[in-house]
Amino acid sequence: MTHTLTWFGHATLGLETGGAHLLVDPFFSGNPAARVRAEQVSPEFILVTHGHGDHVGDTVAIARRSGAMVIANYEICNWLGRQGVETTHPQHLGGGHQYPFGYVKMTQALHGSSLPDGSYGGNPAGFLLTLLDGRKIYLAGDTGLFGDMRLIGEEGIDLAVLPIGDNFTMGPEDALRAVRLLAPKQVIPIHYSTWDLIRQDAQVWAERVQQATGVQVHVLSPGGSLQF
Ligand code: NI
Ligand code: MN
Repeated sequence: MTHTLTWFGHATLGLETGGAHLLVDPFFSGNPAARVRAEQVSPEFILVTHGHGDHVGDTVAIARRSGAMVIANYEICNWLGRQGVETTHPQHLGGGHQYPFGYVKMTQALHGSSLPDGSYGGNPAGFLLTLLDGRKIYLAGDTGLFGDMRLIGEEGIDLAVLPIGDNFTMGPEDALRAVRLLAPKQVIPIHYSTWDLIRQDAQVWAERVQQATGVQVHVLSPGGSLQF
């Protein structure tokens, strides 16, 4: 079973797995790195890690048009319902649920989660996906480093998607420590170089991580994909 993970720039990801199309944090409008417009994507599922505008992004418009089910925390799902999104599945930290494409567990993240209109967005989160063939993808979301990444790593992660931009999330140093705690087979860095404030040289980081940990790092260009 082959899965395709696409990075649309910033923290926006697409995942094709077993015939299902997922979007994570679909931020296209106003995303200087995005090469695709929100009108061009039609997922069946949208995962939202937290309430910030660069993550909720175009969720309302895409979900209303495509009918996609949005998976997010309870507070964000309630807010989306008030914006006219009909199908949501609320989860919360530590809880998992089986969907047609796999099992999704909501993990903690050290960050904020207020929604674009200032509404309370609950706690920020990451997601641990167990796909139908058993392979696991950890999407850290926006987060600082935390020691319990070790517990997440105990599950055996095939692919970890980590922020490295610094300022709002882990920077390169802490992201390297995160790789040590998580011990994934492969890593993709995200949430960098969208704006000058979070500019990073991902290629340099990738070489450092590979030398220090032996973990394979894939530096994608916006629009680029990894098949695994
Ligand atoms: Ni954020
Ligand atoms: Mn962010």
